[in-house]
Amino acid sequence: MTIRLASRLSRIKPSITLAVTQKAADLRAAGKDIISFGAGEPDFETPDHIKDAARKALVHGASKYPAVAGIPILRDAICKVTNEVHGLDVKPAQVLVSSGAKHSLFNLFLALLDPGDEVIVPAPYWVSYPEMVRLAGAEAVCLKAHADKGFALDPAELRAAITDKTRALILNSPSNPTGAVYDRKLLQEVADICVEKDILVISDDIYRQLIYGAEYVSIASLGPEIAKRTILIDGVSKAYAMTGWRIGWTVGPVELIKGMNMIQGQSTTGATHIAQIAAAQALIGDQGCVEEMRKSFDARRKRMVELLNQIDGVQCQEPKGAFYAFPDFSSFIGKKTPSGQSMSDDVALATYLVEQGVAVVPGSGFGCPGFVRLSYASSMEEIEKGLGWLKTALAALS
Ligand SMILES: Cc1ncc(COP(=O)(O)O)c(C=O)c1O
Repeated sequence: MTIRLASRLSRIKPSITLAVTQKAADLRAAGKDIISFGAGEPDFETPDHIKDAARKALVHGASKYPAVAGIPILRDAICKVTNEVHGLDVKPAQVLVSSGAKHSLFNLFLALLDPGDEVIVPAPYWVSYPEMVRLAGAEAVCLKAHADKGFALDPAELRAAITDKTRALILNSPSNPTGAVYDRKLLQEVADICVEKDILVISDDIYRQLIYGAEYVSIASLGPEIAKRTILIDGVSKAYAMTGWRIGWTVGPVELIKGMNMIQGQSTTGATHIAQIAAAQALIGDQGCVEEMRKSFDARRKRMVELLNQIDGVQCQEPKGAFYAFPDFSSFIGKKTPSGQSMSDDVALATYLVEQGVAVVPGSGFGCPGFVRLSYASSMEEIEKGLGWLKTALAALS
């Protein structure tokens, strides 16, 4: 029997990030030595004091359904952190805890968007934004951020992209994949446009604590009018090395949170109880662990960018946040391998590179063909070794 799949599946593509990670895993399983710069997760372990909180919670019976919106101690901690970071005065009724920030975004789009609605997605973008917007039946309108302007949005181009169907703009600063961090002046201009045009801002702050020599500016802090229109997405995955615990959250207007709560209540219910207790500990506990990991990422970032820029034909800007380098590899497109295999695009190039032992993610998955993304959330030894292999593999193209 042939299964007829829902037509909504034809609106989305599989994640290229996961495809490269899978290819690397397959080659590794076949015995090949692979260095992966593909994954979007810290290589650190979750700090011990967070694991301990989870262990204790389990002993004390945190094994029942939690409230759909999240356990009170976590929602209180989220309010405290949000109010400190964004200069707001949010209350627990404005918070919904979900199974990771990805799940928060998914609930958000389902609660917010109707067919025909448009969401502006600056490109390069995190692979899942356009697909999730499409799954909700709406249209993702990609707005190119220019590499020669540090991948910053152009306010005039933003204004021109807004139509009467535009519901929201997605902001992701620091950005996955570019590491770009938006400065105060640009954010003020963006905020003024969004207030004037009366559209929402979805601020995905998942990398906000991983910044190097730049300032994190919250768009919600730029005045009451933009604060009213800002929906904050955040979580513990990246800053606390807690990707597998699956805890993220949304902070927004009460009526939106109620709508999202209804969707979550009819689908996944509350996020894992023990993981919520661990996430609360991450937010309430000592923040020294975040600073330690940030410093380590910073050292790796500098080394990776230095090594990339030493390769002939590669240009890499200095990322100011997150844990990704996003170099321009376009000078290799059109070249051939010694065996005559053509590098017709960045996907062919990434496929060749993983076969040479180095996994990177092609930029076209992020709406930016010709570039590749390398995660520096790997050890310094792997960075040194992998970049050496990369240099050799690229030098073999002609
Ligand atoms: C920009 C961005 N937003 C959200 C997420 C989702 O994070 P979580 O692990 O909390 O679902 C990711 C994960 O890669 C990301 O890069």
